[in-house]
Amino acid sequence: MTIKNITILGSGIMGHGIAQVSAMSGYNVILRDIEQQFLDKAMEKIKWSLDKMVSKQKISEEESYKIFSRITPEVDLGKALKNCDLMIEAVPEIMDLKKKVYAEVDAVANKNTVYASNTSTLPITEIANITSRPERFIGIHFFNPPQLMKLVEVIPGQKTTQEIVDLTMNFVKSVSKEPVLCRKDVVGFIVNRIFIPLVHEAVWTMDRTKASMTEIDSAIKFKLHFPMGIFELADFTGLDVIHKATIEMYSRDKKVVNPHPLIQKLFDQKKLGQKTGSGFYEYAGEKYERINLTEELAKKIEPIQIIGTMLNNAAWLVTNQASDIPEIEKALNLGMGLRKPIFETAKEFGMTKIIRELQTLSSNYGKFYEPDPYLLSI
Ligand SMILES: NC(=O)c1ccc[n+]([C@@H]2O[C@H](COP(=O)([O-])OP(=O)(O)OC[C@H]3O[C@@H](n4cnc5c(N)ncnc54)[C@H](O)[C@@H]3O)[C@@H](O)[C@H]2O)c1
Repeated sequence: MTIKNITILGSGIMGHGIAQVSAMSGYNVILRDIEQQFLDKAMEKIKWSLDKMVSKQKISEEESYKIFSRITPEVDLGKALKNCDLMIEAVPEIMDLKKKVYAEVDAVANKNTVYASNTSTLPITEIANITSRPERFIGIHFFNPPQLMKLVEVIPGQKTTQEIVDLTMNFVKSVSKEPVLCRKDVVGFIVNRIFIPLVHEAVWTMDRTKASMTEIDSAIKFKLHFPMGIFELADFTGLDVIHKATIEMYSRDKKVVNPHPLIQKLFDQKKLGQKTGSGFYEYAGEKYERINLTEELAKKIEPIQIIGTMLNNAAWLVTNQASDIPEIEKALNLGMGLRKPIFETAKEFGMTKIIRELQTLSSNYGKFYEPDPYLLSI
């Protein structure tokens, strides 16, 4: 099977970006939303992005025109799916809505269309099983913004065939992205399984060590080689996204995250980060701001429980055969911008010391911290 025609369901933050990326690689794209006005906005954003690429001389005006003309906005679902080889669904992250959408899709899609969901946290197998074709259903998790982020996690459900896995991996490569296969449909896949608990852990660290936010963030940036602090990254991502992902992940697996009440509190107070002018930090205006983090501040704290939690979740993925260390390192590099492999950073701290810290945390605060058998084996 070859893919030529792609239909994207949902023209929001992710959908319009995936449409652009696909059209840039020569695919015919139909972008579908429930109202014309949403599609008009999405097409405007794509046009703006392409114009910017022309002004930076990344593409010619002629190429920009060709790319734009490959994307057809469409409200009618039947028309949108008529000749579709691969459907990528990027509707809001609400299980009941996704199920309703797949029921509508199933009524009109042709039998060969592959279904791919861009969900960040919902179980692939559960969505797949309500469709007519769980063996042709797969998770395709682009990162925000799809135009810039290289990483795409590919997640087969329990019944997905190898042919569909290969087809999806090749499709991701064909749009100049780097696929990382999450071999099992595990909670949070790879990046969110490590990122979401990390935000909570940073808050617990603040409580337990009385270190300040900028000290912790500086340590994360300069000692764990992140591109920015974790509170800074959380504000950038949005506390709404983090809160909802936490709820979804924790409801499915109590071991995956140790939720700190501050995240829920910030969410309830609508302090959602950069976009609302306040989150963990306060921001002056709408423009993207960076927090002043320094190597001096980083010296104040040893972020050992933070790296311990990261390694423990990474190790869980290995023990449960969802991934391996090179793939996890690739995902952390491309998805979170880590400048150094985390297992190498761990050696600077000393693996024995990290394991001892996890054991102490586990006896003080419970099973969440219990070192994974894989960590004990290396
Ligand atoms: N925003 C992110 O950072 C991010 C990152 C990775 C993955 N995701 C995932 O991508 C998916 C979409 O997220 P988003 O942030 O783009 O959401 P969004 O709210 O920006 O866009 C969703 C779009 O879907 C449309 N829609 C609703 N019902 C529809 C239907 N029946 N058919 C077609 N379109 C419909 C909405 O009108 C809206 O335009 C979610 O599953 C989310 O978890 C989001």
